[in-house]
Amino acid sequence: MGRPYEILFLLPFSDYTCDMNPLPIVQTQIPPDVIDLGLGNPPLSLLPLNLIRDAAQKALSQNDNSFLQYGTEQGDGYLRVALANFLSDGYGFPVDPQSLFITTGISNALDLLCTFFTQPGDTVFVEEPSYFLALRIFADHHLNVVSIETDENGLIPASLEEKLAGSRPKFLYLIPTFQNPTGHTLSKERREQIVRLAEKHNFLIAADEVYQLLNYSQQPPKPFGAFVESENVISLGSFSKILAPGLRLGWMQAHANIIKRFANSGLMDSGGGLNPFTSAMVRGVIESGGLGENIGRLKSIYRKQIRVTDEALRRHLPEAKYEVPHGGYFFWLQFSDQVDVGELRKKATAFKVDFRQGALFSSNGGLKNYMRLCYVYYDVEKIEEGIKRISACLHQGP
Ligand SMILES: Cc1ncc(COP(=O)(O)O)c(C=O)c1O
Repeated sequence: MGRPYEILFLLPFSDYTCDMNPLPIVQTQIPPDVIDLGLGNPPLSLLPLNLIRDAAQKALSQNDNSFLQYGTEQGDGYLRVALANFLSDGYGFPVDPQSLFITTGISNALDLLCTFFTQPGDTVFVEEPSYFLALRIFADHHLNVVSIETDENGLIPASLEEKLAGSRPKFLYLIPTFQNPTGHTLSKERREQIVRLAEKHNFLIAADEVYQLLNYSQQPPKPFGAFVESENVISLGSFSKILAPGLRLGWMQAHANIIKRFANSGLMDSGGGLNPFTSAMVRGVIESGGLGENIGRLKSIYRKQIRVTDEALRRHLPEAKYEVPHGGYFFWLQFSDQVDVGELRKKATAFKVDFRQGALFSSNGGLKNYMRLCYVYYDVEKIEEGIKRISACLHQGP
């Protein structure tokens, strides 16, 4: 099965290809007359070229060219110190640079985790629903995925305990804060309970904290990075949603013994630590205060886009049930059981609109009447127009 979303509308040429080179440059090509409210990407207009340019100019005009060498296995030491300071502020507790390992993003970290800690046929636990492309990574590693129930406070520990009675996972993958797709946040009490269960039953927790720093109205509970004195906890972070996905840079925060497993691998021994060149640029963005400013700018734009999405949904899709998200990227809409959002999506092509069906995020064939919408990719006019088109698609014709 191909990736279910980005290749729906392939154009031979688009705004994203340059005249000299007809081959695609970015992952997703959307024809200009289509509004894809399913896409979970930041728009090009919010990717801060100036910040990167300034940091790159500074790094490239110094006489230190060590970032052109194979990097240290755990990841650039300057970046780890700058990042640890930044996270200590953002997370509200001290983060030790020695607890950080530099990755090329969360997707990469999950893939490495599967490589180092699992064998084909092993079981992993995930939330129901969960980030569908993480599910693809687990499929690449031939893992057996078992889903755990969630509610508005995230993963339900009783459901986890019930599943633990039947099998022990190699790890539990969860998105604790502003979850993709639901937007829900795991409560503080449940975080503590889940860590205790991981220690008792000896499995790893891989907490994908990609949206932790994108909170718009309330401070979420502390990330799982607060629990890394436990050898059972791995907290994953990324610059993709707070700076730019094309950097392919992220981090893992974990106990020294876990970090050692990654840093002492053949991959790091042969290739050195990941992305030393980009690390040197991003270090500059953090040290100049640019990362904090960028997050502040994103939050104020996204707050407005959430408001507009909410208003447009009330106006054009009053039958959809949802909660207004406090952070992250997504609205998660529930329709009546009669609505099959996968079928609706097929019809949506004619209305020049797109979204993601809930079934994509389900590991057990459920959630057919759910829809994920993303409010970050389009400006407010396009969001309103896209929701109008979804409404027309739902309400008109067969
Ligand atoms: C929950 C979640 N995890 C991971 C990613 C991808 O992260 P990265 O770009 O760091 O690989 C995304 C991107 O949409 C996401 O929503």
